[in-house]
Amino acid sequence: MRKPFIAGNWKMNMNSATAVALAAGLAKELEDVDTVDIAVCPPSVYLQSVAAALSASNIAVGAQNVYFEGNGAFTGEISCDMLKDTGCSYVIIGHSERRHVIGETDELINKKIAAAINSGLLPIFCIGELLEERQAGKTNDVVADQVKKGLAGLCEERIQAITIAYEPVWAIGTGLTATPDQAQQVHGMIRGLLSELYNEDIAERIRIQYGGSAKPDNTSELMAQPDVDGLLVGGASLKVEDFSVMVKAVA
Ligand code: 13P
Repeated sequence: MRKPFIAGNWKMNMNSATAVALAAGLAKELEDVDTVDIAVCPPSVYLQSVAAALSASNIAVGAQNVYFEGNGAFTGEISCDMLKDTGCSYVIIGHSERRHVIGETDELINKKIAAAINSGLLPIFCIGELLEERQAGKTNDVVADQVKKGLAGLCEERIQAITIAYEPVWAIGTGLTATPDQAQQVHGMIRGLLSELYNEDIAERIRIQYGGSAKPDNTSELMAQPDVDGLLVGGASLKVEDFSVMVKAVA
């Protein structure tokens, strides 16, 4: 069985004091949870201090982005090894805000995923359709295309490091959550696609998180879906109480 995996994406929020306080609060509140994998993804400048605050805890640390090159003249970018050096084990790649605000392409995302896996980081690979794509009946095509392009060239052995996060763009930060049925429909499609691209055993092992206005109220109904294996939480991950209620609901 797939162990549930709940991750908090703090996005561009917090400062050095509040980041450490949030991490410390979660470590205390969630210390007894051992049936759920938990991670928080602070802004990169706070990775090291958050990792230190969580070093004795059951909460892992992830970054929100990475660059695929090893080192060199890439002003402003951060390499996989640098992230690992801060204490990171996960990295979010291809978040919709990076695709649609910053302009990341499927090809760039594919390079980042490959580099992350090669370095031993665990990618949380985000995909999801825009509102107009859903309204035009293109959700499955768009999401399948993102999965195929993001995972292009990754062999069976490497793919197992990955978590996929289905985040419909229209549900992110809007208060509009996909219904449990809508989430299950896309998650099931993704698992079927993984089975075609790799094999059934791998498809059954890869965790698929849902993200997009996930909150304490809707955690249980989303997690009750057979192919929803976890959540990638934005706004609700910024409060100790909300995020820990969600993790405990799943535990
Ligand atoms: P919200 O939970 O704030 O909608 O954000 C979801 C998200 O983008 C997580 O990566």
